[in-house]
Formats: sequence, C-alpha cells, structure tokens
Amino acid sequence: MTAPLPYGKQTIGPEEHALVREVLESDWLTQGPRLGQFEQSLRDYCQVRHAFAVTNGTDALLLACRVAGLGPGDRFITTPNTFAATANAAVMCGAEPVFVDIAPDTLNIDPNLVEKALAADPSIKVILPVHFAGHVCPMDRLADLASQYDAIIIEDACHAIGGQWLDRENRWHKVGSCARSTLTCFSFHPVKCMTTGEGGAITTNDDQIAERLTRLRSHGITKNPALLEKNDGGWYYEMHDLGINARLTDLQAAIGLAQIKHLNEWQQRRLALVNQYDAELAGLAQVNPQARPASEDRHCYHLMVIRTSRRRELYDFLHDQGILVQVHYSPLHLQPYYRRKFATGPGLCPEAEKYYSEALSLPLFPSMSDEDQKRTVAAVRTFHLQGV
Ligand SMILES: Cc1ncc(COP(=O)(O)O)c(C=O)c1O
Repeated sequence: MTAPLPYGKQTIGPEEHALVREVLESDWLTQGPRLGQFEQSLRDYCQVRHAFAVTNGTDALLLACRVAGLGPGDRFITTPNTFAATANAAVMCGAEPVFVDIAPDTLNIDPNLVEKALAADPSIKVILPVHFAGHVCPMDRLADLASQYDAIIIEDACHAIGGQWLDRENRWHKVGSCARSTLTCFSFHPVKCMTTGEGGAITTNDDQIAERLTRLRSHGITKNPALLEKNDGGWYYEMHDLGINARLTDLQAAIGLAQIKHLNEWQQRRLALVNQYDAELAGLAQVNPQARPASEDRHCYHLMVIRTSRRRELYDFLHDQGILVQVHYSPLHLQPYYRRKFATGPGLCPEAEKYYSEALSLPLFPSMSDEDQKRTVAAVRTFHLQGV
C-alpha cells in the first residue's frame, strides 16, 4: 500500500540534525549564538536591514501590528482568503477589520477594492495583504494607495519566503525586502516553504521600528545602557514597553540556518511542480489553477491551488486514495467570531465565498516525487473524465 501523500511537508537533511545536536550539546538552548546567525542569514537572504526571528508567524503578525501602532479605534484592511492569524493579530491590538474581496484569478486581495475601501474610510491605518499560496500581491499598486491614504503596509508573507517579484521599473525584489512595505511577516511552520518546527520572522528597513521590536519580542525589556533611566549594575534591566516572550530558541534557529541554504533550490522545485501541474491539468475544463504572473515567475509557491466545481466529491475521492488534499481557506469573515463581533456575513466578499466553495490544494513540497505528482494528476483526471 502506498504511503499517504500530504498536501505539504518539511524537508529535513543531515545538516539540520548536526546543527541541532551541536546546540543540544552546547550551553545555550535559547538566547545563544544561533539565533543571531539565523537572523543575519534572513537579512542577507531577504536583502533587508533588520530581521527578527520569533516564536511563530502569529506572533510575528501580532508584534508587527503592535509596532505599527494599531489600537482601538483603528481599522485595517485584509483579505478574507487567509488563515485566522492574519486578522486576529490586528484584532488582538483592538483594531477593527475591513475585509476586502479577492481577485478571482490571483486569489489575492483586489487592489481596486482596496482603493474603494480606503477612499470610504479615513480610519484605516494599516493594509495587511497576504501573498496567498506564494503569489505576491501587486505591491507597487498597494504602496501607491498606502501613501495616498496615509496607511502603512504589513505584508503577511507566511506563504511566500523564497519568492521574488518584479516592480514597475523591471527590478526584482525578494519577498521580505520590504521594498514597498513597512514590515513583512513570515511563518516557519513545517508545511511552509522552509521550517524551524514552529517559528516565524519579521523584517523591516525602519531603524526605529527595529529598535522597538528588539524590546517587544522580549517582554519590553532593555539592557541597552543608552536607554536605561539608571544603572544599578551588571544585572540591571528595565521594562520600557509591554512585550511578550516571542524569542525563537537556538534549537529552532539552528534548523533555520540549515534550511535557508536550500530555499533557492526548493523554490525551483516547487515552481517546476506547479508548472507541471498547470500543464497536465490544462486540458481539464472543470479545473482552474491560480493565475500565474504575466512576466517571468519567481514565486515560491507554498500551495498548488485549483478551483473545481465538484470540490467536495473530489476531496473525498482523493482522500480515499491516500492523497491528502486540503482546503485553503474558509473565508475569515464567515467565521463565527468575526460574524458575531463585527457583524460580517455572507455576501460581504462574494469572490472569496465562491472561491472557497471550489478550492482545493493539491500536494506540493520539494521532496515530492514525480511519481507522486503523476499519481495525483491521474486521480484528478480520472475523477473528471470518468465522471466519478
Ligand atoms: C497566511 C498565514 N498567516 C499567518 C499564519 C500563522 O503562522 P504560524 O502558524 O507560524 O503562527 C499562517 C500559518 O498557517 C498563514 O498561513
């Protein structure tokens, strides 16, 4: 019997084992040298001034929203086609969500509707776009809107590390470079493009924001002599801000250090698998993959998303064969919490609602074999062509 095929999973090699063992045998399981080294590798990789490795993508978003100054009375724009953590982070700060519908082809937030929302509501302070499945949002356009309406952009790039996007002057930017945003957040959960077990990161080019993040991710505490109100001795610290413990351990940072070296190779493999899926499914009228960029595609795809009218039956059919497809996402504005607290409901974002009824994520991960992909494609074709 063939082993079940997950929709996503980590790739772990000998270097991860060796580096974790080294940390285990060292004096520092947390707050040791590996964290700083991992943060340096993130800065180098993303081509950005500051990077903070934190406990998970959720805390990355929470701290980003805090440092962006979101609070009660503020509103923020985000997409309903995302994981709960995206909007939850800003709501935890006391802000109110404005869910803006998606474009039906890219499945990302629709910039024309973002413009409408900004024009209608001056209390919108933050735009929180999500690069869904790894497909980067139109950052030039969103940045124009942010500057016109005095909002800041926090990118939820939890799906997208390893990717690049082309600006209107034909320059490529790494996701995480914050070329058109104030902050970018990543997740290193095992199904994502790279992993640290649990983990996440925040990047920014803003020195003041970085200075505050240094404190916020560690209880708001500082030992920086330049900031202390007094100094009682070598042990002395002060708490200047209300923070949390969002530190990544050295064990996790060691995994990240090994992982990031493979990111380019994994991006290539993910892209090749996605292109192969697109080619093989192109003949099936009932199946529509997510749109790809018009120019060269350098996205790092976290998910291989298709739309299909008989989603429920196809989901069951594939699961019966051990192909463990998933659905991303049930629209956030329809979750009971959001419906009850913010009076959102059906009809608010019709494209996201329609997409959800058709959405399916096929298996995609770098170590997936060509045979596993063939098996998946054959099952999808059989289902549609033989009218299962
Ligand atoms: C779009 C998006 N945002 C945020 C998160 C939260 O990341 P984490 O699971 O690392 O807390 C996820 C993870 O599933 C995600 O997919």
